[in-house]
Amino acid sequence: MVVFAHRGASGEAPENTLAAMKKAMEAGVKAVEFDVQLSRDNKLVVIHDYRVDRTTDGKGYVMRKTLEELRQLDAGSWFGEEYAGERIPTLEEVVELLPEGTLLNIEIKSFMLDKRDIAGMVVETVERYGIVERVIISSFDHKLLKGIRKRSRDMKIGLLFYGKLLGIDEYRGFKELDPWSIHPSQDYLDEDYLKHLKGTGCRIYSYTVNSRERFEELKNLGLDGIFSDYPEIGER
Ligand code: G3P
Ligand code: MG
Repeated sequence: MVVFAHRGASGEAPENTLAAMKKAMEAGVKAVEFDVQLSRDNKLVVIHDYRVDRTTDGKGYVMRKTLEELRQLDAGSWFGEEYAGERIPTLEEVVELLPEGTLLNIEIKSFMLDKRDIAGMVVETVERYGIVERVIISSFDHKLLKGIRKRSRDMKIGLLFYGKLLGIDEYRGFKELDPWSIHPSQDYLDEDYLKHLKGTGCRIYSYTVNSRERFEELKNLGLDGIFSDYPEIGER
């Protein structure tokens, strides 16, 4: 069972910051999930919401701010005073921080109105760092995922979705997409549904599982991995 620290160890440190990544590493976690977006000046930054309001002391859309503007924001105080001064990291900083042997799930948050090639920039970064082997790129935007597959045969793709996707084997373009893993919400996961998803031959990683009880339940059903804000609930 793979346990991904969801947005880093986001139950214990401010989500998607280097502090949250370090917390996960200190706890011996071997897999981390985080969200990436593009700044106004085409830099890949690690943040979940489209706006900075909830997780920083600023206001406004991520895509409308330059990296320099984003860097001025405090991304830690909202979580706890001891994290004051924590910054929104770049994708490169997170990649450089996480030690070799760590599995990275880079979730691309695409923005419908934004026509820039964020997927291409993520793929370029992953290739440049030579970490294709230990990266899974996922997104709720399946068109974007299909674009990645066209560009690269080797990239591991995580098919991420909200609701219950019945008839997954008949999902249009599934074979060509050739996902490494499927990432369903745990809200809909039961024995039958898991069996259905596993029938594709993909690994099944489910989000977001924060209780040990639910973790044990899903593990017994044969789930391959979870995303958790408290990754220490899992075994290592
Ligand atoms: O990638 C799994 C999970 O992170 C998807 O939901 O909203 O937490 O990014 P969200
Ligand atoms: Mg995410």
